[in-house]
Amino acid sequence: MTNGIHTAFFPGRTDLAPVLMLHGTGGDESDLLPIATFLFPEHPKLGIRGRINEHGSNRYFIRHEDGTFDLDNLNQETDWLLNAIEQETARYQLDANRLIVLGFSNGANIAAYAWLNKPTPFKIAVLLHPMMITPPHQIVNLTGYRTFATYGDVDPIVSEDNFDQLIQQLTDAHVTVEAFKNHQSHHLTQTELMAAQAWIKKL
Ligand code: MLT
Repeated sequence: MTNGIHTAFFPGRTDLAPVLMLHGTGGDESDLLPIATFLFPEHPKLGIRGRINEHGSNRYFIRHEDGTFDLDNLNQETDWLLNAIEQETARYQLDANRLIVLGFSNGANIAAYAWLNKPTPFKIAVLLHPMMITPPHQIVNLTGYRTFATYGDVDPIVSEDNFDQLIQQLTDAHVTVEAFKNHQSHHLTQTELMAAQAWIKKL
């Protein structure tokens, strides 16, 4: 840990795009490593831990007891994360503009929010079980950005309507989106990871 940022770095081939791992609630900077290694075997990998603590679980932004989100905190923590990405990519000599985000749940949510609301260095993202947190503040043009986003039809956290709204927001922002809907819950499955792998091969 330096500068209060918990980071894990796993070196890889320097000619390949670095992967940024953003964990789900209760995860940490390295818990997506097996998934990242499956999807991006030889790429360098960087994980950054969210600095919010929800009863002992790491998160990227505050969720209230009633399940609603603290949008001021989300805005602030997104700035913190983008700054942390800048610092940590510089520290490990990674090209931030080539970053590929691998985000799960809470980590996918802050990545999608960042795209829709802030200037971001990353243009490619694998978003596993993301949701729409809030409508974007303004119309953004993310032409050339690409994402693979997954949804489970028995997910108790993300409704289909909510997922579809996120996909619509991204599409309205000109992101090229491949949505993958599967019969599953909020956890990760081999089926969706195989589909993600096939999408990555086409990049
Ligand atoms: C969130 O808080 O971002 C969503 O509820 C997903 C999660 O539980 O992390």
